[in-house]
Amino acid sequence: MGRLCTSLAAATFICAFVLFMTPSEGRLFKVVTKDMTVCGLLDITFNVTFTAFRGSKRLRVATYDQDYYRNYISGDCNRDMAVHFENFAAWNLHVHFKLIPDPKYMLTRTVAFIPNLVFGKAVPSNTTEKFVNPVDTAIGPVDCSYKCGVEDKSFYKKVNSSSTDQIKAESGVITYSVLVDVSYIQFQVSHVHREKFGPPVICRPSFYYKLMK
Ligand SMILES: *[C@@H]1O[C@H](CO)[C@@H](O)[C@H](O)[C@H]1NC(C)=O
Ligand SMILES: *[C@@H]1O[C@H](CO)[C@@H](O)[C@H](O)[C@H]1NC(C)=O
Ligand SMILES: *[C@@H]1O[C@H](CO)[C@@H](O)[C@H](O)[C@H]1NC(C)=O
Repeated sequence: MGRLCTSLAAATFICAFVLFMTPSEGRLFKVVTKDMTVCGLLDITFNVTFTAFRGSKRLRVATYDQDYYRNYISGDCNRDMAVHFENFAAWNLHVHFKLIPDPKYMLTRTVAFIPNLVFGKAVPSNTTEKFVNPVDTAIGPVDCSYKCGVEDKSFYKKVNSSSTDQIKAESGVITYSVLVDVSYIQFQVSHVHREKFGPPVICRPSFYYKLMK
């Protein structure tokens, strides 16, 4: 297994070297199997901001980050991992293999939440809402880790949103926005050995050039 990782790690050596100097790492979550082995790791600093609107008026805002002691992680040791906040809100990572236009692993990020549980009485809906990061990210092979110290602030898009959502917004029915701000991440959903990340594949090599400017 090590070979592909190693060559990728070598290819990104310069970037990795630069990123060693970035100051902070996040909170480390471990996915543990029933027999107590660690099969997935996530080191993260982020927050998720939920906003409920009536028309264009902001009704309620709620923000969750990695630090709350009741947060926990779940994962299938294969392709999925999720950070669970209180009130059943969750940030989900899903890794999948894409053949076209060229073969690589991709990361899809989604958020699921129940409005009433996140916002309280002012927002009565208890139907699960699902939002997705509009852009999937290419990551390395599954026995490498993926690491990124470049801030990524993204508004997620409502899954299967339809034109009726626009009508709802205009007629005063409550709608939502989900903003996810990740300032540091290293993760590996499977193939974790001895509780350690595989060699990191670093995001956006262009970050190196940005630093040099
Ligand atoms: C989280 O939210 C606050 C604002 O509430 C912001 O200042 C901060 O930079 C955010 N991002 C991260 C990654 O913590
Ligand atoms: C969902 O919301 C309705 C209306 O607010 C409430 O009557 C019902 O008990 C809620 N169901 C659950 C499972 O929370
Ligand atoms: C979105 O739509 C697709 C295709 O119509 C369906 O398969 C999928 O389950 C839907 N997702 C959600 C979260 O409703």
